[in-house]
Amino acid sequence: MKTFEERLQEKTRAAEAAVRNYLPEESGFQKNLIEASNYSVLAGGKRLRPLIMQAVYEAFGGIGAGVEPFMAGLEMIHSSSLVHDDLPCMDNDEYRRGKLTTWKKYGYDMAVLAGDDLLVEAFAAASHAMELGIRPELVVKGMRVLAQKAGIFGMIGGQSVDVELTGKEVLPDQLDFINRLKTGALLEAAMMIGCILAGGSEEEVKEMEIIASRIGVAFQIRDDILDVTSTTEILGKPVNSDEKNQKNTYVFLHGIQEAEQKVEEYSGEARERLAKVLPNDTFLIQLVEWLIHREK
Ligand code: IPE
Ligand code: IPE
Ligand code: MG
Ligand code: MG
Ligand code: MG
Repeated sequence: MKTFEERLQEKTRAAEAAVRNYLPEESGFQKNLIEASNYSVLAGGKRLRPLIMQAVYEAFGGIGAGVEPFMAGLEMIHSSSLVHDDLPCMDNDEYRRGKLTTWKKYGYDMAVLAGDDLLVEAFAAASHAMELGIRPELVVKGMRVLAQKAGIFGMIGGQSVDVELTGKEVLPDQLDFINRLKTGALLEAAMMIGCILAGGSEEEVKEMEIIASRIGVAFQIRDDILDVTSTTEILGKPVNSDEKNQKNTYVFLHGIQEAEQKVEEYSGEARERLAKVLPNDTFLIQLVEWLIHREK
């Protein structure tokens, strides 16, 4: 019997391979842009979203490689969000995953374009699911969720409110909204699409959305805690970025102790709901536990 760590490593490697499969060759007059895009995706990272997507797909009985194009697409969208998040007009950060951020390495202009490129190439990648045996109507459904959770009602919408309220007083509802959208939405996409492609019912997909939303908010609050308590060496990105940018995180509004409680509360609810809907799956529950207590 494999340990959780072994399974996690195996699944991270599988996610990494799926993502690499859909990256373009670096040639042509736009080579510099392709390099910038690939650099952003290949810089490392936990590959959490694709690995959760695959784990949910398998938990609902999905088999085969049909989920891989969506795993790649979602990680591209996540990378695009990070490339833009680090830009001087947003969080103005110079390090990510232990390397220079895309704009620092390739310039502001190329980073804007690389973020754009990853966002659209994601859908080209996802469309390949059809050739790998996923029913067309499920591919369309999955692509719609991918778009909705990335767009104004998802990650990008959340980032816009995060940016607009920077340095201003924030109400609890507004902060929840930001966390739920800027970070929760892509995790919702991961779990919903895994379930959709495996042929899950409407109710099951809805339940995945709720569970992922709780995980997402807990995940962002943990990120905010680490921004204050960790080191740049461990995180691979600058600590105290939120203070520098006068971000209204849960940590600044309520203190670390309450933030820790909130993480426990949200992840606890996610674990309980997971145990009900997927009683035979221990990996996902352990995964929630792991990502909530992660060090980076
Ligand atoms: C960082 O996401 C941005 C947030 C939503 C907090 P991750 O912590 O998943 O970043 P990588 O992909 O592992 O670098
Ligand atoms: C950003 O949140 C979430 C995204 C959608 C990229 P943060 O700004 O806190 O993410 P990090 O700390 O830079 O990774
Ligand atoms: Mg940010
Ligand atoms: Mg940031
Ligand atoms: Mg952060």
